Amino acid sequence: MARLNSVCRKPTVQDPPYPFSPNAATVSFQFRFQDEFRTLLTQIGLQIMKNTTYPLGNISCTAPLAVLLHFWYFYYFQNQHMHALGNLRIDDLVVENRIRAKVLFYFGINFYETPALTLAQVCAARGLSVQQVVREFEQADADAATSSLPLVNYPIELIIEYLKHAHYVFIKHTLPYLGRLISSFQPAPGPYVAIGRDLNLLYPLLLEDFIHHIYEEEDTLFTYMAMLDRAHQGRYHPAGLYYAMEKNSIHQFSAAHEAHHDEMSGIRHITGHYHLDRCAPVHLKVIYAELQAFEESLVRHASIENNILFPKAEALETAVRQMLKEKSRFN
Ligand SMILES: [Fe+2]
Ligand SMILES: [Fe+2]
Repeated sequence: MARLNSVCRKPTVQDPPYPFSPNAATVSFQFRFQDEFRTLLTQIGLQIMKNTTYPLGNISCTAPLAVLLHFWYFYYFQNQHMHALGNLRIDDLVVENRIRAKVLFYFGINFYETPALTLAQVCAARGLSVQQVVREFEQADADAATSSLPLVNYPIELIIEYLKHAHYVFIKHTLPYLGRLISSFQPAPGPYVAIGRDLNLLYPLLLEDFIHHIYEEEDTLFTYMAMLDRAHQGRYHPAGLYYAMEKNSIHQFSAAHEAHHDEMSGIRHITGHYHLDRCAPVHLKVIYAELQAFEESLVRHASIENNILFPKAEALETAVRQMLKEKSRFN
């Protein structure tokens, strides 16, 4: 979102006004109320149990009244927020937060086709509920803010499943969306024509390279690691395991993976490290923001593979080799 903040048009949605008349006591009440809203809800639950008075901003009131006020405000705030977003133009919504472009895409709405219509108008034309779309905006924001899992403590089997799922999301969601954004970019004659052409030339090559990397990883590396994991649990065929361990080496896989060339270097080069003028087309801003977000997720993904998966797999391979040695000693 920060990347899209440098735009010509300012976002127009503000927090809705609080419905109390603005005298000194209620203004203080209003802001304290808004800022501490979520924390207070939890505290109120405890106050109800005690049936004591409850300090709310500058006002003391009984706990049941405080609960009513909170829920009434929550209902009012949500409706105002929904209404304000519904009345925003599609391009303003996307400028304000590029994740909304992706949410709209999954609802079948291409933001660049109807930039001047409001969200409410687009939803009405497609039989969609504004409420549902806004809920998905909020969910997408919450998902983006979710911190990563503490994978280092997980068994290797789960880490492989996590990485496979990430591959699936890249192939089925992220890359098709990026491809659609790039292929539909048709700038007016001027300075952005060349970048549109370069992106259309380079993106299919990036796609091919990336898909090849993923399939190679799943077909050879993950398969071998899963075999080691099963063997460590006592589930293996001796000849098959011996042959696989002669043929593969986690250390070599790891070295090759770390040396693997950077798929995004070409994109970074032609986009000038995702730098754009303030008045560049919104469509191009969304493309750059999505490419940068994709690169960041690739870096996180590769870091999990290099720093968590490979060290665990190397330790596993050593343990299985030791296990085989001991077996052969007793036979
Ligand atoms: Fe991967
Ligand atoms: Fe990888």
